[in-house]
Amino acid sequence: MSIAFIGAGNMAMSLIRGLLDSGMQASAIVAADPSQEQRAAAESLGISVFQQNDLAIKQAAIVVLAVKPQIAASVVQSLSGVNATQLIVSVAAGITVASLESWLPINQPIVRCMPNTPALVGAGMTALFANQAVNDKHLEAAERVLQAAGKVVWVANEEQLDAVTAVSGSGPAYFFLLMEHMINAGVELGLDIQTSTDLTLQTAYGAALMAQQSVEPVATLRENVTSPAGTTEAALNTLLQHAVPDAIASALRAAHHRSTELAEEFGKT
Ligand SMILES: NC(=O)c1ccc[n+]([C@@H]2O[C@H](COP(=O)([O-])OP(=O)(O)OC[C@H]3O[C@@H](n4cnc5c(N)ncnc54)[C@H](OP(=O)(O)O)[C@@H]3O)[C@@H](O)[C@H]2O)c1
Repeated sequence: MSIAFIGAGNMAMSLIRGLLDSGMQASAIVAADPSQEQRAAAESLGISVFQQNDLAIKQAAIVVLAVKPQIAASVVQSLSGVNATQLIVSVAAGITVASLESWLPINQPIVRCMPNTPALVGAGMTALFANQAVNDKHLEAAERVLQAAGKVVWVANEEQLDAVTAVSGSGPAYFFLLMEHMINAGVELGLDIQTSTDLTLQTAYGAALMAQQSVEPVATLRENVTSPAGTTEAALNTLLQHAVPDAIASALRAAHHRSTELAEEFGKT
């Protein structure tokens, strides 16, 4: 499996590091980026780097598109020499399979992915969607690339990637907001900032770990830690009075709507 990364920014570097950590030979990976700084960073991992995308993709079985969505159309359209034996794995947010297909040779196998920021620390959550030209070997290969940055899940239809964007794509920011305000509230209640930060982050981490390891739904976990007339109940009642569950549902609907709008915007050639 030889992989060429188009763009060697944050997401590509996380995937490359993860692939190397998982035992892939550095000689099987190349990256192209116009930035000298990014090329030097990629080269320091032991892989070969190129300034020109066309040179990087020559020998590759898999081409990972890891540039900003705003430039994806021009980057893909200017690729010459890409052929339908190569699997295209796109991590560019909002770039649809239909857009990619219109810019690439006919019958090009394409896997569109929606990763999230925790991929940068190997704890990402990526949803993948494959077009008709993708075979079982391609599915396995795409999975292996994205698993380098965390967990993966396949979705059966592409529209679901807008929901994925609303849940896990934008999701880290919702948790950051919650943590930010818990830290501030802890300080208001008399803790120093470091202590409040440590308490909040470990609580977020512990709650996520517990929820992942439990066979119970998260609602049951919440009920289990809410004693009648206790402190947790007092806090949760306040959140309910402020309609926090409705606000969360509206927030995800807004992210979903914006995701569909961006797909239209970035898809224009
Ligand atoms: N980072 C995340 O958490 C995250 C999460 C979900 C999805 N994604 C998706 O992943 C993709 C990459 O994001 P990122 O955060 O890695 O962005 P990034 O750090 O900006 O990386 C993109 C890289 O592409 C380079 N580039 C610019 N023009 C190019 C060209 N013509 N050919 C090849 N490379 C070129 C950029 O170089 P310059 O800096 O010189 O422009 C930069 O090094 C985006 O489409 C984004 O939607 C990222």
